[in-house]
This record gives sequence, C-alpha cells and structure tokens, in this order.
Amino acid sequence: MSNARYIAFEGPEGCGKSTHAKRLAARLDAVITREPGGTRIGTMLREVLANPDNTDMHARTEALLMAADRAQHVEEVVMPALTSGRHVVSDRSVYSTLAYQGYGRGLSLDSLRTVNDWALGGRLPDLVVYMQVPSDVLAQRLAKRDLDRFEREGEEFFQRVNAGFDALMAAEHTRWITIDGTLPKDDVEALIWERVSSRL
Ligand code: TMP
Repeated sequence: MSNARYIAFEGPEGCGKSTHAKRLAARLDAVITREPGGTRIGTMLREVLANPDNTDMHARTEALLMAADRAQHVEEVVMPALTSGRHVVSDRSVYSTLAYQGYGRGLSLDSLRTVNDWALGGRLPDLVVYMQVPSDVLAQRLAKRDLDRFEREGEEFFQRVNAGFDALMAAEHTRWITIDGTLPKDDVEALIWERVSSRL
C-alpha cells in the first residue's frame, strides 16, 4: 500500500497558504495543485466563480460549481498521484466549501457534506494545514490586491468564514495542524515542515 498523503492547505484569502503550499510541496516532491482550478475544466469553472461580474450567482450554484471542480480534481489529479505513490499538496479543499458556502453563505453543512462526499467519492484530505490570520490583518493584506468576487465580500462574511474554519478545526483537531499565519514567512515554513513531517 502507498504511503502517499493528501495534504490540504486551508484558511482565508491573504493568509499565505498558496506560498506555503508550494514550499511544502517542493520539500516533499509532492504534486502541487489547487481548488478551484487544478484541472483544465476546473480552470474554466474558477473563472466563472471568481468573475466579479457574476453578482447574480446563487449560493447553491456556487456550491455546486465548487463541488464539480472537486469531482474533476479528485479523478484527474488527486487519485492518480496518490495511486502512483506521490504526496499531493492542495491549496484548498472541501473544507473551504464548508467554511465559505456553509458558514459564510449560510447553506446547510449537512447538505454540503453529502454533495461533496459524493463528488469526492469519500476521499477527504489526510491532513489539513490551517493558516490562521485575524480578519483585521487580512483586510490590510487584501487592500493591496485586485479583488475577485469572493474578496469583495464584506468584513462580516470573512468573520463568519474564519469562525467556520475555527469550528471545523476544533471538531477534527487530530487531522488539522494550525499555524499562526502572522509569523515571518521563513518561521511559518519551518513550523509547517516540522509539524507535517512528523505526521508522515
Ligand atoms: P483562492 O483565493 O485560495 O485561490 O480561492 C479562490 C476563492 O474561492 C477563495 O475566495 C475561496 C473560494 N472558495 C470557496 O468559496 N469554496 C470552495 O470550496 C473553494 C475551494 C474556494
């Protein structure tokens, strides 16, 4: 049996997870990928999801497009890599759906879990690296960016998303590694490596 692991990075936008997912993947020689947009079809879905003109998108549509991206991603990227013995490091996973569409948009967590369990064929991440950054620090970081449809949501939305991640982590803390994302980059990288490598 392969020892390859599916590791997901989670946290709000601006928390630094993309940088650190790449750094961890390089250390592990893992396949680096992301949701949404880890496949050709997912890239098209990501454009629809992120487009700030799509202000008329219903929350359930958003959740289903995320699940569609995930179904393609698990079949095309995650499972083949794991089967061939390579670790997978993914920038976001199903937990983003629970935090954003569940806690953020107010959709039923049970329904989201059911749909995503089906989309994923039950293949949840083995390990979740959660980059925790307070909402006010995130607001300062986002002020420097061109904002997509999600990043234009108000501060209350991001407070709900952050509270959602905290609740998800507390419920499953054995699979989650929480990292203080306000520390200097190299310290964050070292901490992640120390804590992930001890679990592999
Ligand atoms: P990114 O900023 O990490 O690239 O992610 C794109 C956006 O998509 C981000 O604002 C979070 C959002 N998102 C969800 O709302 N639900 C999901 O299931 C995923 C994977 C991302």
